[in-house]
Amino acid sequence: MRVLVVGSGGREHALTKKILESPEVSEVFVAPGNGGTREIAHNVDIAAADCSRLVRFAKRNRVGLTVVGPEVPLVLGIGGYFDYRSQKMFGPGPGAAMLEGSKNYAKTIMKRYGIPTGESSLFAEYHHAIDFLKKMPPPYVVKVDGLAGGKGVVVTSDLKEAEAAVRRGFSKSEYINPHDLVLIEECLEGWELSMLAFSDGRNILPLVPAQDYKRLDTEKNSPNTGGMGSYSPVPKVTPELYEEIIESILKPTITAMAKEGMTYKGIIYAGLMITEDGPKVIEFNCRFGDPETQAIIPRLESDIMEPMLAVVEGDLSGVKLKWKPEVCASVVIASGGYPGTDHYPELEIQGIDDASRIEGVTIYHAGTTIKDGEFHIAGGRVLNVSALGKDFGEARERAYEAVSKIKFPDMCYRTDIALTGI
Ligand SMILES: Nc1ncnc2c1ncn2[C@@H]1O[C@H](COP(=O)(O)OP(=O)(O)O)[C@@H](O)[C@H]1O
Ligand SMILES: [Mg+2]
Repeated sequence: MRVLVVGSGGREHALTKKILESPEVSEVFVAPGNGGTREIAHNVDIAAADCSRLVRFAKRNRVGLTVVGPEVPLVLGIGGYFDYRSQKMFGPGPGAAMLEGSKNYAKTIMKRYGIPTGESSLFAEYHHAIDFLKKMPPPYVVKVDGLAGGKGVVVTSDLKEAEAAVRRGFSKSEYINPHDLVLIEECLEGWELSMLAFSDGRNILPLVPAQDYKRLDTEKNSPNTGGMGSYSPVPKVTPELYEEIIESILKPTITAMAKEGMTYKGIIYAGLMITEDGPKVIEFNCRFGDPETQAIIPRLESDIMEPMLAVVEGDLSGVKLKWKPEVCASVVIASGGYPGTDHYPELEIQGIDDASRIEGVTIYHAGTTIKDGEFHIAGGRVLNVSALGKDFGEARERAYEAVSKIKFPDMCYRTDIALTGI
């Protein structure tokens, strides 16, 4: 079978590599891909958001399954472009993808079906939101309703900053924000966790838990990023907590979506806060997480095509996942200036081959390209160095030894990935 992977990050390189291991798969195309996917698959020059061209490509090239990595095409409704009978796509359809595409929609579903989440208030009018903020005690959590590429949420104790976030939320142009709505939420306290599961619309098949690192470095007010690393499993997740998340959050959400007529097929990703009152949903995502996937996939023993095809066919009930006993730590290497800029010099990256020869290590490319036969920087987050180990001590040792072999000017990375796992 031929597979088309949509996207260009570390998540898509990890998915591509894993999909290629399947005996079902003859060839993989990646649109648009990166330097890493170009080495193992066929990069296709179509942007991840160009839904109609992607569908035409899949049809013309007799692609058996299209796997959509990022949220933007899913929320733009790429599922609606595919004819499910003749053209298979892994990912939720346009309605179901609104669970990520509209934070207000997700809150509405959670409130309607009693799925644990924080309190929130919705505003369609600037002055009402500002009046509400002024009357409430800090800390403030302000969110725009639509997709914002990780830039739509502000958590702050500073009223001026919260007001500025409300102002930006109503400034139309900046976000894929179909409703022009702003949410002000209760600030939840606890620790964060990502739980992902396959869903066929009725049954779920959970993946192993993972945690990501959102801030650029360890300092308190360090900027938020797309994610600077991840690890899996999360030792703090007891079997009881794992069960509670499945029974009180993941299963009821899939059932709720089915009742709403929004059959949810694909990956459901719950961003959770583990509070004193138990797990509560911060948000849902409608796809694999990046960089969580880069710490989860190296641990997966099973053929990933099996659950993916079962999801598309609508019956996951017979599928089981087998996991390696090893743990995984995944370190992101970013360009200097990340995340403050969108322009990164196209510098040469050295040492990737040396680094990938270290036992247990896999390098997933994110912002890279091949120029004159050499890897060059093509984005803010450049590489993910994932390492398996018998414990987090060994995984970290291997990951950071690999990081030390990689060289380009001004590269930056966190040194504490998976340290909390020890
Ligand atoms: N209600 C909340 N209470 C406390 N922290 C929150 C809350 N909502 C969001 N956050 C923090 O902001 C981050 C981003 O929020 P999230 O809703 O996941 O938006 P997105 O991932 O779309 O940017 C979360 O990972 C969490 O750290
Ligand atoms: Mg989030």
